[in-house]
Amino acid sequence: MSNTPTPPTPSTSHISDMPNLNSNFSAANSYLSHSKVFARISGTGSYLPVRAVSNEELTQQLAEKNIETSDEWIFTRSGIKSRHYANPQESTSFMAAQAAKKALEMAGVDASKVQAIIVATSSADMVFPSTACQVQKMLNIQNHCLAFDVQAACSGFMYALHIAQSFIENRQYQHILVIGSESFSRLLNFEDRSTCVLFGDGAGAMLLSADDHCGIIATKLHANGELQAPLRIPSHFNQGQVAGHAYIEMDGKAVFKIATDVLEKVAQEVLHAANWQGSDLDFLVPHQANVRIIEHCAKKLNIPLEKVILTLSKHGNTSAASIPLAFDEGVRLGKIQKNQKVMLEGVGAGFVWGASVLIF
Ligand code: ACO
Repeated sequence: MSNTPTPPTPSTSHISDMPNLNSNFSAANSYLSHSKVFARISGTGSYLPVRAVSNEELTQQLAEKNIETSDEWIFTRSGIKSRHYANPQESTSFMAAQAAKKALEMAGVDASKVQAIIVATSSADMVFPSTACQVQKMLNIQNHCLAFDVQAACSGFMYALHIAQSFIENRQYQHILVIGSESFSRLLNFEDRSTCVLFGDGAGAMLLSADDHCGIIATKLHANGELQAPLRIPSHFNQGQVAGHAYIEMDGKAVFKIATDVLEKVAQEVLHAANWQGSDLDFLVPHQANVRIIEHCAKKLNIPLEKVILTLSKHGNTSAASIPLAFDEGVRLGKIQKNQKVMLEGVGAGFVWGASVLIF
């Protein structure tokens, strides 16, 4: 799934002759029908569980089970100092809804105007109904807008964003909530020190809106199902039981190698599609898996670390939530500003990976 390069010039639109297929577009927005429609981030929000767990606290808890680790080992290998763990009330859908509310507030858009809800998650509260349907109910959105979940592991948000981008560029919808929300603490084996120290819980959201000016310029997404072994949760439900191992399994060295390789390639690919250089970017907002992977990618793109939004030390790896969480932090701290050029990139189990470049 990948789009064609679209320079930010309305007059060069390749869809300008397309009919407006969606009755949800109001007359007030008819000005968009004569030019290229861009999908632009109009609001961002995030939610972190109340409980923060430092490396020291986790080390102490693991020591009680005779599992040895240390702040020093965790921080030097991953860049993580702390992460948040959700309590039972802070479900994946609850966190998603909180993040979405903040994104709507920032955009100044009423929830009733949302025409689609897409939630990226690998830790949904139920098999079904989807997290997105639960968010629709929690936000009291009664307009029967479409709502569904996307599962593409740590790249889930990149996939969800591109689906939303396509909906908007095809003039189907004007406002779409795109959310990443994860309760990975439920999926951690606290007997396995090589994985349990790396992940955390949280949610991030973006409101993507139709805009006649600019927004997402190019996106490239990929998958390689041959690469399943290094990272997986190999379980399913069968006859009322969980069948298989319901915890994260990871070959850290293999993941490191694949992640650095594919992220560099897809970053170059999407820059090429936009006709940009790494040096054109104001910010890189990468999936927050491991600071060494991020540093490697930034170096290859000639992006100084001051231009990289890093939340890993406080959040750990929040999988599909990590990119929108980091983006929201960058915006709310006043780092990422309107009209700046930003790259988002992610990689996860599958393997799946992707990148987008956009003008905020
Ligand atoms: N505390 C202390 N020691 C540990 C811990 C821990 N938490 N975990 C593993 N070790 C030990 C191992 O047992 C091993 O000991 P040994 O040499 O006596 O056998 C030693 O540390 C080295 O283990 P390695 O697995 O070789 O450690 P490595 O240097 O590869 O670092 C890490 C592990 C951090 C996971 C690294 O491989 C890595 O960064 N991988 C990338 C994976 C990643 O970022 N995953 C995120 C999720 S995937 C995603 O989001 C795409």
